[in-house]
Amino acid sequence: MEFTGRGWSAKDILHMKRCLNLAEKGKYQVGDNPMVGSVWLKGDEIISEGFHKKFGADHAEVDAWKKAGQPSTFNEGTIYVSLEPCNHHGKTPPCSDLLIRLRPKRIVIGSTDPDIRVAGKGIKRLSDSGIEVLSGCLDRENRWLNRHYFTQRECHRPFVTLKWAETLEGKVGQSQAKPQSRLIISGQAALVYGHRLRAEHQAILVGGGTILADNPKLNLRNFTGNSPKVLVWWKRPSPEQTFLFQTNLEFKEIVHASLKDAWPEIIEYAGNSLLVEGGPKTQTQFIEMGLWDEIHRIVSQNPQHPGDIAAPTLPDNAQLVDSIPIGSDIVYIYHPKK
Ligand SMILES: NC(=O)c1ccc[n+]([C@@H]2O[C@H](COP(=O)([O-])OP(=O)(O)OC[C@H]3O[C@@H](n4cnc5c(N)ncnc54)[C@H](OP(=O)(O)O)[C@@H]3O)[C@@H](O)[C@H]2O)c1
Repeated sequence: MEFTGRGWSAKDILHMKRCLNLAEKGKYQVGDNPMVGSVWLKGDEIISEGFHKKFGADHAEVDAWKKAGQPSTFNEGTIYVSLEPCNHHGKTPPCSDLLIRLRPKRIVIGSTDPDIRVAGKGIKRLSDSGIEVLSGCLDRENRWLNRHYFTQRECHRPFVTLKWAETLEGKVGQSQAKPQSRLIISGQAALVYGHRLRAEHQAILVGGGTILADNPKLNLRNFTGNSPKVLVWWKRPSPEQTFLFQTNLEFKEIVHASLKDAWPEIIEYAGNSLLVEGGPKTQTQFIEMGLWDEIHRIVSQNPQHPGDIAAPTLPDNAQLVDSIPIGSDIVYIYHPKK
């Protein structure tokens, strides 16, 4: 048998890659569930494929089973699935029950599910039933795709993305701007990019200073998907009515002098993922507490913007992992150095 990478055959890797491609189709729709894909194989022929389409919908294995015509057995086949099959009753019955009934020859799994209701119990149950089960195929790639889900289930906090736009001169705002005439820094393409980030996250957080200065809408307008929940962190009770009180956006005000004190409430509300949109005082508190997993810094390439409020200082452990030209801007993406 031909082996590649960490001991997996080229065929296993090929089909698991396909599972991950299928899984990604559920992006923006699965809520705080993981993105999961499944491929069913008999000999070298793909019999069926499935994925978890949206929150509350069939799991990937069940979707593939339905597309295969709901067979009662699959005993010569191999089932690839990018996440450990569940072993508990949630919105749908346990997938492990279905797979045990089908008795495939082999089940190849991407990653163990870190959710405490599963956490290896699905794999054990399948193995105990006599099915050959192999786990860990493209585990790293699957963990990356589902980094919001894995962070929440393993660290019991949301994955935190910091995002801001700054001028070529390193400024993010203008202190003398009149309310609702904020400094526009980035171009239309970067705006769409920012809204795509919103669609990927379950909650957005901004500081009270930004609400007072910009009165931002904080909804999803330039990308398809659901508007994330909004969290506003005030140091003191909110001083005036803003648009937030007149929209249908689901929002929550958190009143604490420090982010440290606000953090437990933020965790409770944010779900898997939090996009911090500023301003710099709020971003700086996240950076100082080491509470960030990814930074998206959008830098305008047009010189001589006005502006006198300095951008946050990048953390010492920030490592540049990508830079993407977008229209008249460049997006720099950073991860914490390992
Ligand atoms: N370019 C970008 O990507 C971007 C994004 C967002 C915002 N901005 C700009 O950033 C500026 C605002 O940023 P920021 O760092 O000052 O604020 P912020 O981080 O949005 O909010 C935190 C600050 O708001 C103030 N605040 C909190 N609760 C308050 C209350 N109840 N009443 C009055 N003030 C309260 C506090 O200021 P004190 O510490 O002074 O009490 C607090 O430190 C604006 O000019 C905005 O346009 C730029």
